[in-house]
Amino acid sequence: MNIEIRNVEKYYGDNQVLDIDYLNIEKEKITGITGPNGCGKTTLLNIIGGLDKEFLGEVFYDNNKFSKKVKQAMTIVFQKPYLLKRTVYENIEYPLKLRNMNKKESKAKVLDVMKKLEITDLMDKRGNKLSGGESQKVALARALVFNPKLLLLDEPTSNIDPEYIVTMENAITQFNLKNKGTIIIVTHNIQQSERLCHAVINMNRGKIQT
Ligand SMILES: Nc1ncnc2c1ncn2[C@@H]1O[C@H](COP(=O)(O)OP(=O)(O)O)[C@@H](O)[C@H]1O
Ligand SMILES: [Mg+2]
Repeated sequence: MNIEIRNVEKYYGDNQVLDIDYLNIEKEKITGITGPNGCGKTTLLNIIGGLDKEFLGEVFYDNNKFSKKVKQAMTIVFQKPYLLKRTVYENIEYPLKLRNMNKKESKAKVLDVMKKLEITDLMDKRGNKLSGGESQKVALARALVFNPKLLLLDEPTSNIDPEYIVTMENAITQFNLKNKGTIIIVTHNIQQSERLCHAVINMNRGKIQT
């Protein structure tokens, strides 16, 4: 899904936190967003994700305005994910249930993504009883499982052990290659953006650095 941003401005009171004249994010690519704390990365991601509607300007999704159809085709993984108080399995199955997939087909997908992310052991644990890093893994699984056209990731490896980061990065890269999902990933980690991303956008004080 191609994303086009035109004249987007965001204010909190008198404080302007975003000011982007134009930005095009190419479909089927992995685009990184980097920049110092407080420069507006999460704000931008929430606007693209349709969660924040209080802004000036326009965002287009394959030349369309935000709609229910666009919403169904995308997902956002927060830095501190919110999981249901159900089992990990049920958390990951949830987006498939919402989309009325039959049990058999959904089971195969849930088991497959858990295996890929090496979280099969967590299957029966409660979503609200996980550590920060475990929650990030489960949230990524829950996002990948329904094959979104647009995947928004907000610092997805910020609480992840170094030796596991590569597993997560591989899952992200594989998803992009196989399913042609467009990915926007906010990351602090320059090496990570170099490893993963086809393009990188640098932000500073709410603006795109060119
Ligand atoms: N709910 C809010 N109310 C007021 N200011 C906010 C709110 N959320 C974020 N901000 C401010 O907006 C700016 C950008 O925040 P954010 O997008 O979270 O930055 P980043 O993700 O790049 O660290 C920061 O100055 C932050 O303090
Ligand atoms: Mg942030």
